[in-house]
Amino acid sequence: MGLKLIFLIFCISTVFILSLTVLKINVISNTKLKLKYLYSASYIDKNISSVIKFIINPKCDSNFVVWIVTSSANDPSYRTALRHAYPSEILETLNITRVFLLGMPKEKNIWKYILKESQTYNDLLQGNFLENYRNLTLKHLMGLKWASSNCKATFLIKSDDDTVLDIFEILKFLQERRIKENAISGYVLKEMKPIRISNNKWFVTRQDFPENVYPDFLSGWFYITSLKVAQLLFHTSKKFKNFFWIDDVFITGILRQECGIKLEELNNFYTTDYR
Ligand SMILES: *[C@@H]1O[C@H](CO)[C@@H](O)[C@H](O)[C@H]1NC(C)=O
Ligand SMILES: *[C@@H]1O[C@H](CO)[C@@H](O)[C@H](O)[C@H]1NC(C)=O
Ligand SMILES: *[C@@H]1O[C@H](CO)[C@@H](O)[C@H](O)[C@H]1NC(C)=O
Repeated sequence: MGLKLIFLIFCISTVFILSLTVLKINVISNTKLKLKYLYSASYIDKNISSVIKFIINPKCDSNFVVWIVTSSANDPSYRTALRHAYPSEILETLNITRVFLLGMPKEKNIWKYILKESQTYNDLLQGNFLENYRNLTLKHLMGLKWASSNCKATFLIKSDDDTVLDIFEILKFLQERRIKENAISGYVLKEMKPIRISNNKWFVTRQDFPENVYPDFLSGWFYITSLKVAQLLFHTSKKFKNFFWIDDVFITGILRQECGIKLEELNNFYTTDYR
């Protein structure tokens, strides 16, 4: 009894301290981290939305927010940190269901650890595709597919597992309905250009992406939309045979444009090191 109470106080104070200190999103360090990934591109030539299958398919109980988190199947450390910051039990009381999106690691000896982690936390969503950064679009679409068919929530939040969010601030924002329901809200990246230097690791061929400028898209660190928009994005993805493998560009840029959905700037949610 006493121990449980101490543990509860510990959990609550951890969340409280985190929400006071780590708060929001650190754009500067993330920019450095994500730049490479931002400029990498290719197509996968398959009708993938029909191909994505769930290997591990958790329940979606929340009626308010479903939170999908891109995560590495090979590295549980960010998931552990996020679970410490926001334990599922606390998210549950806030009507939030969080799942981590994983692929299949090449190394089969890791599979059993993932299964064990899933049995412990019930918060892993795993797809039947190889874990690889070139399959990030598949992973992201898997999250939208799962949320579309399993959740009754009003809103969807997407983030990366190395992004630190103030979920309480976001919740307040959502509860006050300060978000446009027919938009995708996040950190807007405008007029980004593909790299055309052939010896660059992140070279984008004209075949990969024929235009000179990407459609405006959102940083994958974090975005919010309504579940309705998430469903529309997923259903629209079935029209595509080719999947541009930078998921942020493909989903919040190309697919979004195809659906006629607007981007909403939430840039003041983000903090920088230069304050
Ligand atoms: C969660 O959902 C239930 C049922 O709709 C509702 O009664 C409760 O107030 C909600 N809790 C929060 C924190 O939003
Ligand atoms: C993406 O996943 C598919 C399906 O498992 C696999 O065939 C393909 O090799 C993966 N792509 C990369 C670049 O690993
Ligand atoms: C992709 O597959 C789905 C389901 O089989 C099908 O309904 C859709 O027409 C396909 N799309 C394309 C472009 O082939």
